[in-house]
Amino acid sequence: MEIKNKVIVQAAKPAEARLALLKGKDILSAAQFSKDEIDVVMETAAYYEKKVKDGEVLKDMEGKVMASLFFEPSTRTRLSFETAMNRLGGSVITVAESAKVQTSSTAKGETLYDSIKVVDLYADVIVVRSPQKGAADEAALAADNPVLNSGDGAGEHPTQAMLDIYTILKERGDLSGLTVTLLGDLKHGRTVHSLIRLLSHFGCRIILVAPDQLKMPAEIVADVEKLGVKVEQTDNLQQAAAESDVLYVTRIQKERFEDLAEYEKVKDDFIVDDKIVKAAKSGIVIMHPLPRVNEITVDVDSYEGAAYFRQAGNGVPVRMALLALVKGCVR
Ligand code: NCD
Repeated sequence: MEIKNKVIVQAAKPAEARLALLKGKDILSAAQFSKDEIDVVMETAAYYEKKVKDGEVLKDMEGKVMASLFFEPSTRTRLSFETAMNRLGGSVITVAESAKVQTSSTAKGETLYDSIKVVDLYADVIVVRSPQKGAADEAALAADNPVLNSGDGAGEHPTQAMLDIYTILKERGDLSGLTVTLLGDLKHGRTVHSLIRLLSHFGCRIILVAPDQLKMPAEIVADVEKLGVKVEQTDNLQQAAAESDVLYVTRIQKERFEDLAEYEKVKDDFIVDDKIVKAAKSGIVIMHPLPRVNEITVDVDSYEGAAYFRQAGNGVPVRMALLALVKGCVR
């Protein structure tokens, strides 16, 4: 793939054998991917991005139905998945009341299992978001068709991590040797749980900056360190930004706190403002999965390395790639 000024200018379709790598698979955790599988997703996303940009009308998923089941609020993830399916010529079904589904653990688990059993008979691919960690795995047990985890509580968000990697690739041209800082609520933030796992394939140096109470779970750090990746933890944001090529900012996940007083204590600990950006490494790319609350001030938006809105746009080609790859539909 050839990228110029953050735009895909050339993109070849991966060879058939590589296109088959994800066929029939669920997308549940970033831990499931080999480097080659990540590369195939990137190449297929670039291939689709170019086609859409060139105005091609695609029929790759014509006749296929995607079930869009969001049991927790979502704007970008849901709309980009639905746009992706539409762009591929497929159609989308959804549940209007999905946000109202009960949140209690076992009862909810059983309900999810049963509804997925049924949805599996209506749709060819199922996209699930739930407030409950492990919900996507449970859905995958119920479904014969591929299930894509679009966020399971404070668990994972692997399709977001794929679009984050794609964004870094487009912004920087390459990932190897980059220093990437992950900032914010690393304890509850499912996007960073998935992203750190994908980053571990690219030879990056990883710095983690979080309030003491919101550090990255030790088992995730241990997992990526086992792969030979260096993970540094600090509370010095300014220093980390000065050494980083990418600063990935996350929202403090208010809805995951049992005690809101704890949230109040940490919510303003790390703010990325103009001052931080000015003192940062030249050319630093600032990312955020969105929505943002106050963790990036709006004065940062005009900085050319502020990539978070472009990042959200990348959700469409990346999710096109994932949908078409798991269904073996890339034409
Ligand atoms: C994230 C999520 O839902 O985990 N948003 C997203 O998918 N773009 C991040 C967040 O809610 O803070």
